[in-house]
Amino acid sequence: MNDVYESFKEQVRAQADIVKVVSEYVALKKKGGRYWGCCPFHGEKTPSFTVTPGKNLFHCFGCHVGGDVFNFVMKIENVSFPEAIKILANKYGIPIPEKQKTEQEILREKNSKQIFDANALAVKFFQACLLKTEYGKNALEYLSKRGIDADIIERFSLGLAAPGYHTLCNALERRGVSAELLAKAGLAVKRDDGSVYDRFRERIMIPIKDARGRVVGFTGRVVGKGEPKYLNTGETELFTKRSILFGMDVAFKPAKERKQIIVVEGHMDAISLHAAGIDWTVASMGTAFTEQHANLIARVVPEVVFSFDSDEAGLKAAMDAIPIALKAGLEVKVLVVPKGKDPDEFIRNEGTDAFKNLIAQAASGMDFQIERTLEKNNFSTLEGKVKTVSNILPFLLECKSDIEVVRRIRNLAQKLTIDENLIVDEFKKIRRGNGIAVSDALMRRKKEENKVNPVEQAERHLLFALINGGGNVTSDFLAEIDDISFCDVRRTEIYQKFIELSARKSPNIVADLFAELSEVCASELEVILQLDLSVNAASQILNDCIRQLKISGLEKQYEYHCRLASEYERAGDEKFLQELAESQRIKNEIKKMF
Ligand code: CTP
Ligand code: MN
Repeated sequence: MNDVYESFKEQVRAQADIVKVVSEYVALKKKGGRYWGCCPFHGEKTPSFTVTPGKNLFHCFGCHVGGDVFNFVMKIENVSFPEAIKILANKYGIPIPEKQKTEQEILREKNSKQIFDANALAVKFFQACLLKTEYGKNALEYLSKRGIDADIIERFSLGLAAPGYHTLCNALERRGVSAELLAKAGLAVKRDDGSVYDRFRERIMIPIKDARGRVVGFTGRVVGKGEPKYLNTGETELFTKRSILFGMDVAFKPAKERKQIIVVEGHMDAISLHAAGIDWTVASMGTAFTEQHANLIARVVPEVVFSFDSDEAGLKAAMDAIPIALKAGLEVKVLVVPKGKDPDEFIRNEGTDAFKNLIAQAASGMDFQIERTLEKNNFSTLEGKVKTVSNILPFLLECKSDIEVVRRIRNLAQKLTIDENLIVDEFKKIRRGNGIAVSDALMRRKKEENKVNPVEQAERHLLFALINGGGNVTSDFLAEIDDISFCDVRRTEIYQKFIELSARKSPNIVADLFAELSEVCASELEVILQLDLSVNAASQILNDCIRQLKISGLEKQYEYHCRLASEYERAGDEKFLQELAESQRIKNEIKKMF
């Protein structure tokens, strides 16, 4: 952040007296150095909500929310950080500074613009190759066989990379695009001597556009048969599959109207569905559905329908995608095409109406999760039943009402022929583990923020134990920890400050921490120190936490290497063997930790 913005923020903070701001929402009474009131964030009759004017912080001892004046406004008005600042600035008549771009931002924008422009020129060139040349005819025929006509070719700006190693490079260099830029855009490959050649040759070119329609990269499909079937622009600054959904630029409007988006795996699935009139479709381009994809969708529509390939890989991809979409607050449905391997084949064989019927009948995400788990488990034995139940119950945490939970548990009990009450008891345990109080009738769905995630919990416990543990614990621990990183910046800051203070042999670390930490971190520290843990068990807690954090770190690495392996394998690159071996090694390490 730049200085102007920082000083603006501090000016607002200085003016926005936290007691005054909070008083507009909560009746406060002064007791000692603090003000007390009933917490506006959870229902209560006796005040456990405090405001400490000296520290400029609020904290609730009941529900553990806390923070500075900005956090308070964010929570109570349900707005983002910049919006909270704006609200307060307006209230106190402080002019909002124009946002100034840093030099770095300006440079990055210039760089992106050059790549966008080069890509746009390439699109034009590829289009001309497809539509206006002799060798384009074969490709047009192939597309037409796949049901892709002139209108769709135009809508997706499809083109053709010509044969030859310098066709595109020469054409674009003539238009002033440097070899350097061609390589940076992923359109050309650079040799050691600095010369370049066309990356894409004799391929149908599918431009990948961002949601605003700017071309960030390309996929080239061989015309007919050949390997690799698809060749992508290497991941560039602009083109990261994890954050782009193919077709969003054209699907955006129809999806918004239908309040629904369909996600398929392949580019050709998306194009084919658009050609058949199902134009609210995007593709994840053969990569796993990510949190970024989910958030992108959640900004546009409330509901996502996954329509992946009907093979084992596609079904697994749907299983993996469901929780990610749910976490982004989306309604989820899963559509499995019954005939043919993917949506493209299905719609070409069976037609648009048949596909629309499938959409109408698509299972809810939870039905799909339960059905698939039942299919994959053998529950003829008692062990099988127990395992099936424990696999399925976590899904039910997403149920929207008690009635739904009860209905689903009853169905499950009938299918598995087990006593319904046993499943209910088991479910209660799981909910308790998720920080949901069982005493609140059978079911009261708590908000996302109150679900404690295990990594967050481990990090908090760890800091609790460190800070309360005294010298020995700390030095033992430091020998172990260098490969652990916190997933939250506030806790990183607390940790670093703690290490710094320990090194200075500070006599009262807690007081010094509060004095030296930023306000948001101080409020996080307050939450940590309030944890209901025994100070005597510090070293045990620490070991548990280290283990938990190591495991989740390894799990992340494992997923990463698995993903790399399958990407290499797809690209026909032998490096996948290495990645496979690495992921196996990590898996063994994880096993050893149990
Ligand atoms: N994919 C890729 N690179 C590959 C293979 C696949 O990027 N070498 C991505 C593409 O987005 C592809 C998707 O993974 O569409 C699914 O792969 P696959 O099912 O093999 O291809 P289809 O979508 O069926 O392609 P087509 O219909 O053109 O044969
Ligand atoms: Mn296909």
